Amino acid sequence: MSTQNIVEQLNTELARTYSLSLAAKQAHWNVEGENFMEVHELLDKVSTQLREVADELAERVSALGSIPIALAATLAGTNISDDFPIRKITTKEALSLFSNYLRDEVSQLADLAKSIGDTDLITQDICIEAARSLAKTQWFLASHLGN
Ligand SMILES: [Fe+2]
Repeated sequence: MSTQNIVEQLNTELARTYSLSLAAKQAHWNVEGENFMEVHELLDKVSTQLREVADELAERVSALGSIPIALAATLAGTNISDDFPIRKITTKEALSLFSNYLRDEVSQLADLAKSIGDTDLITQDICIEAARSLAKTQWFLASHLGN
């Protein structure tokens, strides 16, 4: 995989994780129902974690000599922004939504790490670390749901 290709893929994951971070805040503000306080706080932590992952990806793009992009207009093109419900959501719905979002994101990052292979071990490691930390959070969310 060429460096050009790697930064393009990293920018895609940057937009996805940043967009997901904003969606987690949206859920933090609009969640209601069973175990409210616990889920409300958990969603805030998910938002922070996703922003930290986005930051790592962005800084790697920059270190590779390219331009990280996560402006509002860029994020508007991600399917996370398009699909997110604009209404109150139950704690169960929020946990299920983010469990699925994170499962997808972990698999995207793992696939990217695999495609990068040994052409860039540092970027590969960043993607694996990001996938590993999000996979743990995905497990927390799924465990709350009991599946
Ligand atoms: Fe808050």
